[in-house]
Amino acid sequence: MLKGKVAIITGSGQGIGKGIACRFAREGAKVVICDMKEDLVKQVEKRIIEQNGIALGVMTDVTKAADIKNLVEKVLDHFGTIDILINNAGITRDVMSHRMSEEQWDLVIDINLKGSFLCCQAVLPTMRDKNYGKIVNISSAARFGNPGQVNYAASKEGIVGLTRSLAKEVGAKGINVNAVAPGFIETAMSKAVPPEILKEKVKIIPMLRQGTVEEVASTCLFLASDESSFITGQVIHVDGGRYMP
Ligand SMILES: NC(=O)c1ccc[n+]([C@@H]2O[C@H](COP(=O)([O-])OP(=O)(O)OC[C@H]3O[C@@H](n4cnc5c(N)ncnc54)[C@H](O)[C@@H]3O)[C@@H](O)[C@H]2O)c1
Repeated sequence: MLKGKVAIITGSGQGIGKGIACRFAREGAKVVICDMKEDLVKQVEKRIIEQNGIALGVMTDVTKAADIKNLVEKVLDHFGTIDILINNAGITRDVMSHRMSEEQWDLVIDINLKGSFLCCQAVLPTMRDKNYGKIVNISSAARFGNPGQVNYAASKEGIVGLTRSLAKEVGAKGINVNAVAPGFIETAMSKAVPPEILKEKVKIIPMLRQGTVEEVASTCLFLASDESSFITGQVIHVDGGRYMP
């Protein structure tokens, strides 16, 4: 579905980002593994190449404009173009707001929201020149608000504003900008949740189960492919029906 396309996936050293990178590589994309953890970048790059995929690892901290400039230069040198950007790098620093430090607020906003903006800004000149591009920003069901997550929810709802505004700016240039909002997904993070709390969380999901990394990856695949060519500025919730806005 993505044969020959060049796709940058941020935060692809593990979890959902790694799942997206591996799926895109199986679909024929040349994938750029981009994460702030160098060992993870190397592991995922190696794994994809061993499975006969095409991958380039570039250690990148998405909060640093110089790292992002280096990333784009390396990708253009190596692959000659950029077709797809998946803004997946994200963190949580959960704490009730009366105890949240300014650093906890800033870090989450910087990585999740500003990092996504900086990466969009860096790939847009290439996409505008070729009148083609697909940007998928990873939001979260937490955008609707959760206690202890004022920073995270603000960043993930901010991503929706970024997505819609950018979609309106670049639609005429053949660039689609959409968001995916995963709900409760089976990752290292959710495996740390105590079983009794997990049970309660799953009870309120109409499909009565957690989602998988693969289910998020296949939604990103649809939005990164030409199968979604007339869809832009949208948020697709991958959450088993938990939220129906
Ligand atoms: N896991 C879930 O249930 C869930 C639900 C909704 C949304 N999400 C979102 O999906 C995305 C991926 O989540 P995950 O569960 O796979 O998380 P994860 O913690 O397993 O992976 C995130 C990756 O991002 C990288 N990263 C962190 N800061 C970075 C930075 N400054 N620069 C570059 N890379 C950085 C980390 O090193 C890590 O490899 C996040 O944006 C998260 O908010 C996850």
